[in-house]
Amino acid sequence: MEKTIRRIFIGEVADLPQKLGKTVIAGNKEIAVFKTENGDIRAIENRCPHKGGVLAEGILSGEYVFCPMHDWKISVKDGMVQAPDVGCVQTYPVEVKSDLVYVLIRE
Ligand code: FES
Repeated sequence: MEKTIRRIFIGEVADLPQKLGKTVIAGNKEIAVFKTENGDIRAIENRCPHKGGVLAEGILSGEYVFCPMHDWKISVKDGMVQAPDVGCVQTYPVEVKSDLVYVLIRE
């Protein structure tokens, strides 16, 4: 079956928090959107692969969000968990046009 790409409007770049994430619900998906120190905007699945911590509520440091439940570090760039822990979360492409942020979801 052919997949379509849905663009979900997130908000303006300036409205995204700097150290925390923003939770976005898109259909049956829950996404955490982050703005890194260097201004990149990243979108990942909002559930930690360990025990389901809400990643948008974690603190962002560099490219890693620290899960609020047990402190696993998850890259908002590629979704990989930092060793020695293992796992990954799904990442989503982000589009920024005229300061407006969109997340692209394939369905
Ligand atoms: S649920 Fe995220 S570290 Fe345990």
